[in-house]
Amino acid sequence: MDAGCRQQYLDALGITSWVRREGTGVSADDAGVEEASAKNPPPAPALAPALKESLPVEAASTWDALEAAVAGCQACELHRSRTHTVFGVGDRSARLMIIGEAPGAEEDRQGEPFVGRAGQLLNAMLRAIGLERGQVFIANILKCRPPGNRNPAPDEVAACAHFLHQQVALVRPQVILAVGGVAAHNLLQTDDAVGRLRRRVHAYGENRIPLLVTYHPAYLLRRPEEKAKAWQDLQKLHGLLHTD
Ligand code: URA
Repeated sequence: MDAGCRQQYLDALGITSWVRREGTGVSADDAGVEEASAKNPPPAPALAPALKESLPVEAASTWDALEAAVAGCQACELHRSRTHTVFGVGDRSARLMIIGEAPGAEEDRQGEPFVGRAGQLLNAMLRAIGLERGQVFIANILKCRPPGNRNPAPDEVAACAHFLHQQVALVRPQVILAVGGVAAHNLLQTDDAVGRLRRRVHAYGENRIPLLVTYHPAYLLRRPEEKAKAWQDLQKLHGLLHTD
């Protein structure tokens, strides 16, 4: 991507004063923070307990079967209030998988993740590192909308987790980006703050897929002053995607 184009995207993100640092992709305020490389990520639970316990006896192994299973799911109470299930969208062989929290009102209406205002910002964030929405796979921890946009309840996450686990197994991404605390906490089985989790590369699941954490775009819409940190995270992500 040329410099003019990049600046346009940074402007769209509301970041006009940031200049990409050539070389490390790691910012000054990360200096001294222990960081594992993508090739040598730190130990992580092989499979989060909540995910492991909720794997069905016969897991759907193809996209069609998985989509049908999600569409017909009644494993938790959210099926009563949903308009549509929100399966996930994008390139099913993507190198990058983005994982958010749960569908909001607009996503519930359209049956697609990140189509509201937060989705517009997510698209701009991706473009800032040269990626179009269709080049990544986007999914959520939950496939149905929690009423009133409340946080997912633990039983809802447990009932839904095997779907996401199977999506990751089918996509086999090179990198996962968890956006926001709900995604990060459930994927990494921690309750550390996003501000801490975003500072290093984690490893997800049996295949120890490198996983980065950044702020949720909805949070960035409320706290635009945090966009500069999100831009650091995106540069780190860009670096990970281009390490081989
Ligand atoms: N927020 C999310 O976490 N996911 C969506 O799909 C939309 C908003």
